[in-house]
Amino acid sequence: MIYALTGVPGSGKSSVADELESRGYDVVRFEDLLAGAVSGYDEEADSRIVDVEKIKLKSKPDIVVGHLAHELGVDAIIVLRADPSIIEKRLRARGYSEKKVKENAEAEAIDVITIESLERGKAVYEVDTSGMSIREVADQVEEIMKGGEDKRKYAPGKIDFSSYILEEY
Ligand SMILES: Nc1ncnc2c1ncn2[C@@H]1O[C@H](COP(=O)(O)OP(=O)(O)OP(=O)(O)O)[C@@H](O)[C@H]1O
Ligand SMILES: [Mg+2]
Repeated sequence: MIYALTGVPGSGKSSVADELESRGYDVVRFEDLLAGAVSGYDEEADSRIVDVEKIKLKSKPDIVVGHLAHELGVDAIIVLRADPSIIEKRLRARGYSEKKVKENAEAEAIDVITIESLERGKAVYEVDTSGMSIREVADQVEEIMKGGEDKRKYAPGKIDFSSYILEEY
């Protein structure tokens, strides 16, 4: 089984993937698959334009990590979630523009990555990492990958960050 570890920027994907790698899992980073798949730069969005169709997995890792990992040829998808106010803080600390901070926090509030993942027609799991340490998140991701008994715990649709949006009006 190849699992995508996805989520909005700042959700903790890289940190959790590093922890899982140190536990012995074979991790491939989306960044390392990009060669030949970047077709330009979107100034408006302040991000690279990636032709995901051109990306092929050359091996069968345990985990592919990245905010577009769910678009690849994986078997199941794990979405890391974090309260939008946490996403805001982390992205601001990185020096992202206020526009990019808000866009990503709002995307988290309206479940964008989960919805995109569900559209792939594969098994999707969500982990609400709010208030959890990186190790605790890695424990939960491991539990999912091992096929732990209680998968209802991670069933998509239980997380509701909509108050982040509603509070603005
Ligand atoms: N569970 C956590 N508890 C505390 N801090 C965390 C946690 N997860 C991540 N962080 C911190 O948040 C920041 C963003 O984490 P990280 O770089 O892993 O996110 P990412 O999802 O890989 O982002 P990107 O999509 O931009 O690569 C880092 O400074 C990291 O140390
Ligand atoms: Mg990362």
